[in-house]
Amino acid sequence: MKSLVLIAPGQIEWRELDKPIVTSGKALVKMKGIALNRRDEWIKQGQYPNIRYGGTLGSDGAGIVDSVGDEKDNAWIGKEVVINPNIGWGPDPNVQSKNYSILGMPVSGTFSEYCLVDVDRLQQIPFHLDFLQAAALPLGGLTAFRALFRQGSLQSGQNILISGFGGGVAQFAFLFARAAGANVYVTSGSDEKIARALKMGAKGAYNYKKEANYSELWKTKGGFDLIIDSAGGDQINNYIKILKPGGKIVFYGATNGMPSKIDLYRMFWNQLSLQGSTMGNDNEFIEMLSFVSKHQIRPIIDSIRPFSKLAESFADITLPNKVGKIVFKA
Ligand SMILES: NC(=O)c1ccc[n+]([C@@H]2O[C@H](COP(=O)([O-])OP(=O)(O)OC[C@H]3O[C@@H](n4cnc5c(N)ncnc54)[C@H](OP(=O)(O)O)[C@@H]3O)[C@@H](O)[C@H]2O)c1
Repeated sequence: MKSLVLIAPGQIEWRELDKPIVTSGKALVKMKGIALNRRDEWIKQGQYPNIRYGGTLGSDGAGIVDSVGDEKDNAWIGKEVVINPNIGWGPDPNVQSKNYSILGMPVSGTFSEYCLVDVDRLQQIPFHLDFLQAAALPLGGLTAFRALFRQGSLQSGQNILISGFGGGVAQFAFLFARAAGANVYVTSGSDEKIARALKMGAKGAYNYKKEANYSELWKTKGGFDLIIDSAGGDQINNYIKILKPGGKIVFYGATNGMPSKIDLYRMFWNQLSLQGSTMGNDNEFIEMLSFVSKHQIRPIIDSIRPFSKLAESFADITLPNKVGKIVFKA
């Protein structure tokens, strides 16, 4: 089977690998759709812990169950499934265990004709989605779901700001928060994306490259109950200014690195919280899928490409004009 393998820092290569042997507790999925994440590019560049060379990349994928290791799991054969990329979250819903990892590194992942996973990683695809839409969901959808609802306790009618609308996770946060009845505002570095967000129902959208004075701009809107961010850096101090008293920033990434300082005075006086978040536990994965079904949410897809274009598409994950997930027909 053809698999996209990390062979050295910065180098990925198509390899012909043996089809995995399906042992007890496992299922072999014939991949029909896969999706790229920023994580795949970080791993390719060697900027991720526990890098293993020779392994197949990829966290996101959907397909058809080809075979299972145990007779009791036979009902899965032929089912259309989306794969939960969590491995070993552990018993505490609040935090992942020390053994936690994500499909695609160090364990071989979805960028292959077949993917071997534990049977309990399988979930049926929401009925309104096709393989490609379902493949776009796992990593980004789960990260957004936990950040919004567990860490951010988002409620209908609240004001929420989602930074970097163009981001893969941010777009799920936008779709989910809108479906939950929140007043959703976004930032983006691109005027085209801002126009798109407004068309899709954002209450306001601001270019973070142009609007320096966040506080004046957003004071008029009564402030934000919740801000969801993955860029980090010094702009966190702008967020601190525009939160309502008691408000919260949830961050799940730090693409622009650490802030040089944090306005702790305003934070303690206004009873603000700063909350980290990562992916989500197995129950949240199931809850995320049922939320997607209930609200008939369809992921925003930037482009659909053939499987054969996967390796050369890694560079496109950072393209400034990308809106939504890059998915591949396997
Ligand atoms: N903790 C986790 O479990 C988890 C899960 C997924 C991702 N992540 C991390 O979260 C980050 C985003 O992931 P992703 O997959 O969504 O990446 P992505 O699709 O590459 O999105 C990155 C987005 O960041 C936005 N951005 C850049 N500079 C910004 C700034 N100064 N202010 C606000 N937004 C800014 C841009 O939005 P515009 O294009 O709109 O300007 C860009 O599209 C990455 O660092 C990733 O590793 C963590």
